[in-house]
Amino acid sequence: MTAPARARTSDELIRAEQPVLAHNYHPLPVVVAHAEGAWVEDVEGRRYLDMLAGYSALNFGHRHPALIEAAHRQLDRLTLTSRAFHNDQLAGFAERLARLTGQDMVLPMNTGAEAVESGIKVARKWAYDVKGVPADRATIVVAADNFHGRTTTIVSFSTDETARSGFGPFTPGFRIVPYNDLAALEAAVDETTAAVLIEPVQGEAGVIVPDDGYLAGVRELTRRAGCLFVADEIQSGLGRTGRTLAVEHEDVVPDLVLLGKALGGGIVPVSAVVGRREVLGVLHPGEHGSTFGGNPLAAAVGTAVVELLETGEFQRRAAELGGVLREGLTDLVGRGVVGFRSRGLWAGVDVDPALGTGREISERLMREGVLAKDTHGSTIRLAPPLTITEAELRSALAVLAGALAV
Ligand SMILES: Cc1ncc(COP(=O)(O)O)c(C=O)c1O
Repeated sequence: MTAPARARTSDELIRAEQPVLAHNYHPLPVVVAHAEGAWVEDVEGRRYLDMLAGYSALNFGHRHPALIEAAHRQLDRLTLTSRAFHNDQLAGFAERLARLTGQDMVLPMNTGAEAVESGIKVARKWAYDVKGVPADRATIVVAADNFHGRTTTIVSFSTDETARSGFGPFTPGFRIVPYNDLAALEAAVDETTAAVLIEPVQGEAGVIVPDDGYLAGVRELTRRAGCLFVADEIQSGLGRTGRTLAVEHEDVVPDLVLLGKALGGGIVPVSAVVGRREVLGVLHPGEHGSTFGGNPLAAAVGTAVVELLETGEFQRRAAELGGVLREGLTDLVGRGVVGFRSRGLWAGVDVDPALGTGREISERLMREGVLAKDTHGSTIRLAPPLTITEAELRSALAVLAGALAV
């Protein structure tokens, strides 16, 4: 009889990944084994406050009881049908998600990148079928420093060389203009333009919040030009900025909204394109789809997510705690922080490069029990679960102050 395998340590598990996992990530050296709320615990039982929340996929914290219950309930009944058949969860999910976002229709998918790809296909189809753009001539205007995912079409219009280099040939049909620049956008839009696709706040770029009036300006410009406004709210949406959608800060209703991350409650990948009937209605059977998109487990969890957001509690918390975050970071400016941008419970913090790279600061934070992740050199991104308490948030800020005082 062989002895039961000894549980492996964090170091052993990290080493074990090396030969068998593709090296497309460079994670912090922490191996998470359990999590609840805003806290995660590693293999050795060390606890960390999660200030990243799965890049906003965990807006409701780890294992929110209502979401776990919805998932369990659905696991015991029905998990997958494919769209070859109907399932009893999908209609309710679509109705409630459309109502929550002020739109008419939903196209359910799985990952964020798929929602973006789907939005691009819908915009092109709309350009040919409705706007009358000649075949294969449609263009989509996007912003520099965007992050919309990792597929070959999406990296075709990335301006990040690491994301693009080595992956050509690229998909044509995209024009790139500077973010937060309405004049440049206006100059790029013409009769071939199907859509303007932007993030209402650029997350991966370092939580870049555009000037007041930019989103309303994009809405006005696209309406005038007769093209679609597609808002990628995959990271900014579903409560993060203090509103259900970040475009609501300027009372803007886009033609298509792309959702993902938190829509799956941190349990399953769930994404969606939501939009007006005149736009999403261009799709007909056979033209687009996904085996897993709209599966009953995803729909049940997605419905429970929408139910949480219908209360308004999470948006309120993000707005209120966002004030605490902003105040705490303001205090750190000149004390290790050279600048920051924030909206709701979401911040990009530029650390004095003399104190270390963003990676080194993140490792320092980790050793002090706070998990956060760098982006672009010396910027640290903070996006805790919206369920974090004020005391927990203040303690994370104190740890950050300590890490910068080293
Ligand atoms: C704005 C935005 N769009 C799209 C994506 C891609 O989502 P996924 O990683 O689920 O494909 C991300 C992921 O970070 C994102 O932040």
